[in-house]
Amino acid sequence: MLILKTHAEIEQMKVSSKLTALVLKSLEKEIFPGVTTGELDRLAESLIKENGGKPSFKGYRGYPASICASLNEEVVHGIPGPRKVKEGDLLKIDIGVFKDGFHGDVTETYAVGSISSEAKRLKDITEKALYAGIDKVNSENRIGDISSAVQKVAEDEGYTVVRDFTGHGIGRNLHEEPQVTNFGKAGTGMRLKEGMVFCIEPMINMGTAEVEILNDHWTVVTKDRKLSAHYEHTVAIVNGKAEILTRY
Ligand code: MF3
Ligand code: CO
Repeated sequence: MLILKTHAEIEQMKVSSKLTALVLKSLEKEIFPGVTTGELDRLAESLIKENGGKPSFKGYRGYPASICASLNEEVVHGIPGPRKVKEGDLLKIDIGVFKDGFHGDVTETYAVGSISSEAKRLKDITEKALYAGIDKVNSENRIGDISSAVQKVAEDEGYTVVRDFTGHGIGRNLHEEPQVTNFGKAGTGMRLKEGMVFCIEPMINMGTAEVEILNDHWTVVTKDRKLSAHYEHTVAIVNGKAEILTRY
């Protein structure tokens, strides 16, 4: 079922979304060689709770942490722990916050110290793909317009798009309809409507699009262990146009 939000509900969603963005920006300052992903997770959890929120991911289908911290060949759902990040790593931080009845969800890819020019290009193109998708969000378009715009940016650069994980509607639930794939055909799929709120989240790989799940049952890695990047925003359609709720 597709749940459209009223303007008042979208105003309310800005509360959780803004807190999600604030926590991400606070973590950003703590990313340097030697910090562990577990330390970043604990910091996120305390910031979320201090601000009256709840981590959306903790306990979701048994997920054990407040953020996902995915390094290099890890695509999504990396579980934070004692691992230290090191110079040259590509670190994806994904955060979800529940507050005042609604969820917000955001992801950014970070360079740890200085990274290779190949890694930098993958990171930049993935961010560009996210914004190309957001550019298609208006009440004249369809879901497939977003999907195909994301896909084109990635594939024009010789990258591949992960197909096994997608963007999603968001609201009182972390995952709602519609599904927002990162591949598809323009002009197809559900028509975009006033009051829709969803997450666009391209996961873009340097090599194969294929992924597998590690023995921890969560961490998604590229099958060829080449690099992957991920960006995500929570976006609403207000007065026919895109509004990025998780913009800092
Ligand atoms: N941003 C991801 C998503 O929307 C993160 C989910 S992590 C999980 O699916 F633990 F909640 F599954
Ligand atoms: Co998401």
